[in-house]
Amino acid sequence: SDHAPQRHGGARVLVASNRGPVSYTVGENDALEVKRGGGGLVSGLSAIGPETDAVWVCAALSDGDREAVRRTGGALDPEDTGGQRVRMLGIDPDTHAAAYNGIANSVLWFVHHMLYQTPLEPAFGPEFRAQWAAFEAYNQAFAEGLAAEAAHGADVLVQDYHLVLVPGMLRELRPDLRIGHFSHTPWAPADYFRMLPDDVARQVLRGVLGADRAAFLTRRWADAFTACCDDLLGGTGATRIGVHGLGADADFLRERSHREDVDERMASLRGQIGGEDRKVVVRVDRTELSKNIVRGLHAYRLLLTDRPEWRGRVTHVAFAYPSRQDLAVYREYTAEVQRVADTINSEYGTPEWTPVVLHVKDDFARSLAAYRLADVALVNPIRDGMNLVAKEVPVVSDNGCALVLSREAGAYEELGEDALVVNPYDLGATAEALHEALTMPEDERAERTKRLAAAATSLPPAQWFLDQLEALRAI
Ligand code: F6P
Repeated sequence: SDHAPQRHGGARVLVASNRGPVSYTVGENDALEVKRGGGGLVSGLSAIGPETDAVWVCAALSDGDREAVRRTGGALDPEDTGGQRVRMLGIDPDTHAAAYNGIANSVLWFVHHMLYQTPLEPAFGPEFRAQWAAFEAYNQAFAEGLAAEAAHGADVLVQDYHLVLVPGMLRELRPDLRIGHFSHTPWAPADYFRMLPDDVARQVLRGVLGADRAAFLTRRWADAFTACCDDLLGGTGATRIGVHGLGADADFLRERSHREDVDERMASLRGQIGGEDRKVVVRVDRTELSKNIVRGLHAYRLLLTDRPEWRGRVTHVAFAYPSRQDLAVYREYTAEVQRVADTINSEYGTPEWTPVVLHVKDDFARSLAAYRLADVALVNPIRDGMNLVAKEVPVVSDNGCALVLSREAGAYEELGEDALVVNPYDLGATAEALHEALTMPEDERAERTKRLAAAATSLPPAQWFLDQLEALRAI
């Protein structure tokens, strides 16, 4: 894809993901401004650098990123990345858009999170086939980028649904490499996965099975993958299957959440919440269809309707940060979140009380401030690979925080015992769980939070990464 000088070369350990640790925008005077990438994958991989000297291969996602690639040849300045060696691939914008928006986020994400409204969607026609060809080209660009960077016999850890074809393609180019694949999402049940055209479904599975080892966040997702392979290919062949639950990074979170910028945001949030004794229900998400933000708001509304005693005594602090706004369905969902929040506020709000405090501008320090303040955290996804918010809140919380948690989040496997567990489609049950969480005795809440924090941090990101590397090397 580009003929820039290869400043890294000969890497012993490589990771590959669509989104990298940083992203650039072109600011004033053509200066490049750098920002940390978002989402669970980046949080998980951010801790890898110092331990392994790995090279992280990622795609240019924005115009700023492509400009950074043009200026650096793709080997990013370590000053921008916190010392991490990063190789950014300058992939043609149209190819990337078709692969990322068209296939990764509109097809593979939808299949694994079971988001289709099936009477109308999906319908795989000519447009899909063109996008699929772009997806192959985009995966091929990664395979070539990795092949060029890797030393003989190197270990390569390929991340997520964007790059499912890479393991197979890379094996063709470089049979000497040890290749792992890791899925940060759920994996679809076999009956749902079969919605994909047969040839594409097989290509996806064979792509992953090109790896020596395919790993998942929970046993449930690993079993689903195996079931799909059994169904469509008659088995998983020689590829090993592994499970590595990603935990929260306790040291980083505890330090980061006590800096001055977080204190400032706590003060400002307290101002917006008002009333000293008001309870606080917090949620923090990308504005993502699978996060179930709208049903969460409806459940909160039901709490105010059915239990009037909470009016004026609780505030829902909801952060819904922009995500995948190139897709119309995400833009519509974002608008719906805003609409429902406004409805609740006009229905129940008073001059002294705003029932829903909604923020839509990404601000990590403010998220941490909300974690510290929260009496209750609402994590109610329809389906979620893990969900790190559920794991971060108990670590950061100042006074203990009750967790209302969907049984469809991967985190449920580790946190289910001390959370209040809900069916994410059941508004009444979610409203009841919110009530129970709000009325939980303080000592019980503190005890549960302690146990949740312990479970949430039992596999820190650096260890999660090293375990995968070790398991790959042991083959
Ligand atoms: O953690 C799961 C994940 O899908 C990552 O693969 C992705 O980077 C992240 O969520 C955020 O999504 P996006 O990269 O599309 O903004």
